Amino acid sequence: MLKLDIRKAAPVVSAADIEALAPRVAEAQKALEAGTCPGNDFLGWLHLPSSISAEFIEEIKATAAVLRAECDAVVVAGIGGSYLGAKAVIEALSNSFQWLTNDGSNPTILFAGNNIGEDYLYELTAYLRTKRFGVINISKSGTTTETALAFRLLKKQCEEQRGKDVARKVIVAITDAKRGAARTCADKEGYKSFVIPDNVGGRFSVLTPVGLLPIAVAGFDIAQLVAGAQDMEQTAAKPLAENPAAQYAAARYALYTQGKKIEILANYQPKLHFIAEWWKQLYGESEGKDNKGIYPASVDLTTDLHSMGQWIQEGERTIFETVISVEKSEHSLLFPSDDENLDGLNFLAGKRVDEVNKMAELGTQLAHVDGGVPNIRIAIERLDAYHLGQLIYFFERACGIHCQLLGVNAFNQPGVEAYKKNMFALLGKPGYEKETEAIKARLG
Ligand code: PA5
Repeated sequence: MLKLDIRKAAPVVSAADIEALAPRVAEAQKALEAGTCPGNDFLGWLHLPSSISAEFIEEIKATAAVLRAECDAVVVAGIGGSYLGAKAVIEALSNSFQWLTNDGSNPTILFAGNNIGEDYLYELTAYLRTKRFGVINISKSGTTTETALAFRLLKKQCEEQRGKDVARKVIVAITDAKRGAARTCADKEGYKSFVIPDNVGGRFSVLTPVGLLPIAVAGFDIAQLVAGAQDMEQTAAKPLAENPAAQYAAARYALYTQGKKIEILANYQPKLHFIAEWWKQLYGESEGKDNKGIYPASVDLTTDLHSMGQWIQEGERTIFETVISVEKSEHSLLFPSDDENLDGLNFLAGKRVDEVNKMAELGTQLAHVDGGVPNIRIAIERLDAYHLGQLIYFFERACGIHCQLLGVNAFNQPGVEAYKKNMFALLGKPGYEKETEAIKARLG
């Protein structure tokens, strides 16, 4: 089971400070379980893992098998919660050089609809020109501009390249049961589709088809991912003393109230980069409102010790650091001995690379603690589907609890609308005539 170590959050926050929060954490858990918290119509994620049946996993796998058989490349179109979970898990489980070493046994998974970069979309569509490709179109609202724009391009190209009949087989929609343009299009075209449950918000949806289908298409074990989440769902319902998710939430809250307004999530495995991106969305969008919330930042170490390391060590002391540590590597690589020892590294001969990485991790932790950066450590045994499932649910549950402690609605994102309104006004979207006039006047 995932292990949490908060001892090095001291002296800013001690074990006693965390224990003192036990009644408030229990209240927060009760509000989540009883559905009495703000945003309570979005609590479907809470018992989602335990509600996933073997039959449902088989249905996802069957659709994945069609895409795997019919496609060399599958483009996942989606943004925010309709993108980051799948991207994070696929990156974490893939060979780091997947795009160079792919022997054709798995389709290449590509992502679109998460930006409006013309060059990105041009280069993607150019790459796909010689590929048998399919598309998974993911949007809960079914109306998100970035995703809809990419999907329109990809749908047209897929139909032109592969013919309408094949396109119908290799385009899958994951969207609302009834509403939105993605649903209308899927029903009209007769695409295979999956429903994003009404009561699961985007950033909590990685264990719905939103994450499960792309992950299965990439060839990874979604049953194990779900099993890990199910085990964590049980642990995360326990009282504070036996519950790492509740302890993490309490530690974050205690640190925040002591002026630690920025959390830096650090990893020592490049494959975890997108887990941090997923985590930033989960926490940023859930708690950054009402002028409250910890700012979620991230670094990849040891890489960023040579860029952000100076700031972390000696910059403004408003930060704390949470390290995700992977206990065992999947491969073993020993440092060789060298007769000439020109680089002076023979003291490492015979050691595993991971041993050096672990000493870098420990040395960095101690240095940062000495520099006044409280440290939280989350350890998972291995970087596999099961342990990622644990990690995902651990972060979700802790986020839910922490938002109750903060007193914010974890499940809305009113602030995201502001840019959309301006963009539509600037683009002259029908229905935005008044806003277009106002924004033009503002621009002079
Ligand atoms: O967490 C959220 O709700 C958001 O980040 C959404 O996932 C994101 O805005 C994409 O929305 P949609 O799936 O409706 O296209």
